Amino acid sequence: MNLKRRLPFLRWSTLRLALGMPSFLRTGQIGDGREAACARYVESNARRGDIDDVLAAIDTFAYEKAMLVNVGDEKGRLLDAAVRRAAPKSALELGTYCGYSALRIARAAPSARIFSIEFSAANAEVAQRIWAHADVADRITCVVGTLGDGGHTLDRLAAEHGFSPAGLDLLFIDHDKRAYLSDLQSVLDRGWLHPGSIVVADNVRLPGAPKYRAYMREQQGTRFDTIEHKTHLEYQSLMSDLVLESEYLGG
Ligand SMILES: C[S@@+](CC[C@H](N)C(=O)[O-])C[C@H]1O[C@@H](n2cnc3c(N)ncnc32)[C@H](O)[C@@H]1O
Repeated sequence: MNLKRRLPFLRWSTLRLALGMPSFLRTGQIGDGREAACARYVESNARRGDIDDVLAAIDTFAYEKAMLVNVGDEKGRLLDAAVRRAAPKSALELGTYCGYSALRIARAAPSARIFSIEFSAANAEVAQRIWAHADVADRITCVVGTLGDGGHTLDRLAAEHGFSPAGLDLLFIDHDKRAYLSDLQSVLDRGWLHPGSIVVADNVRLPGAPKYRAYMREQQGTRFDTIEHKTHLEYQSLMSDLVLESEYLGG
């Protein structure tokens, strides 16, 4: 296996990402332009209209040019399987970044309508360029906002995008780790999930969402049935991570 995959800290771009974390938490971008560079790389290197090639180009960019905080290829395969299990007509993602995971959802669920919530307008623009290149922009909508804004974004999803009780088949949570549980709770309060809906959460071990994990453990067999997938943090094999896949049982 490639040494830089086993020892990601040998890469300057990983160290730069670590240094860029304060910027990332504040703005949603690392601060060195890598997100826009990724969109340019896709536009120059991936075949237009070919989702597989666009995803492969983003993975190549993350491995060889600049590390990105996408769900990545290894955890992406867990996401793909969960999406196929949910067979969604309607999917909601929290945390768009460059649009990589939404693209994976679109590929695994060809008839799904996908909504992705992102607080950074700059990231929304990058993602929309990449979705346009993959020719799926008509199926994925980025809503700039956050579910923690006092109901404004939730209301927009209902009023402008038709979110309604029991209408949501898949929820992918991959944004601010401290907001995982409260934002899941907001979705539950709106009644958008139905028995059989699948909720997937990334980065439950690293950076970590301990309250979310504890909640899913408490609800095991009553409100949710959860599988904890042991995996690795994106684009390397040194640090482990957990992806939680939870079936909503109702209640
Ligand atoms: C880990 S990245 C998402 C990666 C993406 N899901 C993928 O795999 O391609 C997290 C994203 O969530 C955004 N974000 C962070 N907190 C947020 C919040 N409370 N609401 C909406 N977006 C948020 C960040 O700007 C960032 O783009």
